[in-house]
Amino acid sequence: MTSVIDIKEYTWRYLHTETPALNSIDLSIEEGSFVGIIGPNGAGKTTLAYSVDGLIPGQYNGIKKGTVKVFGKEVEEYKTGELQQVVGVVFSDPEAQFTAMTVEDELVFGMENIGLTIPEIRERLEWVTELTGLSDLLLKPPYEISGGQKQRVALAAVLAMKPKLLILDEPTSMLDPVSRKKIFEVLKILKTEEDNTIVVIEHSLENLVPLADQMILMADSEIILQDSTKEFFKESGLLLEKGVYPPGALHFFHELSNQGLYRGEYPLTVEQGKDLLRQLIQ
Ligand SMILES: Nc1ncnc2c1ncn2[C@@H]1O[C@H](COP(=O)(O)OP(=O)(O)O)[C@@H](O)[C@H]1O
Ligand SMILES: [Mg+2]
Repeated sequence: MTSVIDIKEYTWRYLHTETPALNSIDLSIEEGSFVGIIGPNGAGKTTLAYSVDGLIPGQYNGIKKGTVKVFGKEVEEYKTGELQQVVGVVFSDPEAQFTAMTVEDELVFGMENIGLTIPEIRERLEWVTELTGLSDLLLKPPYEISGGQKQRVALAAVLAMKPKLLILDEPTSMLDPVSRKKIFEVLKILKTEEDNTIVVIEHSLENLVPLADQMILMADSEIILQDSTKEFFKESGLLLEKGVYPPGALHFFHELSNQGLYRGEYPLTVEQGKDLLRQLIQ
């Protein structure tokens, strides 16, 4: 398996700050995997996304130590714009990303930028509009749509470029539970149909956990825990200490287990929890 992200002994300190935002990070993410990153505010999650996208050190000043390789190449070695063709990042504040007068232009703009032909643009526009359910919004100005719709447009604009590595930094922070679910349905399709590598930074675990192959816990500028999703949530003591509440079903079985009422694997989803409970009752 090839590593899409390969980070070694990486430390980043923003200029004029006392402590590093990322401290001696080691991280390797394999091609095709779906990775969830969680952790309290200020842990360094967004800084990690900036680092992989080349915004650090490109757009931010600071002091860097160690290496950040993306697709085998150090981020600084990419030419301007070259890294953004293979890495797509959706940030939680979609407003900042919009430049066009209509949603359609917003989607087309990025594709023109990477030099796609008109037929290619037309085909991808149709694909991404369908996938993210934006057809009714195409002719609207981006500033006249709701926060949740903006987040979908931001996701669509990035998907239209078909980046091999997709990073979503709290992509559903402005969404109600239904729209949040929709975004994760899109991610599920991308996970199964395309062979993308997807990294999602997200507070809400309910939707993330069933999709994630691997989970990472960040806290205090460091990676505290990285494991397969099942193993990861066995460390519930450590997670709770860092303010991360495991998904409801898992937490419930953990409590049962603490009281000696259950022994065995914990479920990751409500569905799995229901099945387990049914077995226990019978
Ligand atoms: N542009 C910046 N300049 C200085 N410090 C920053 C900047 N952006 C983030 N930081 C600091 O870096 C640390 C990590 O922040 P961030 O990566 O945004 O964490 P998270 O996304 O996990 O909430 C925080 O202490 C934050 O205050
Ligand atoms: Mg953040």
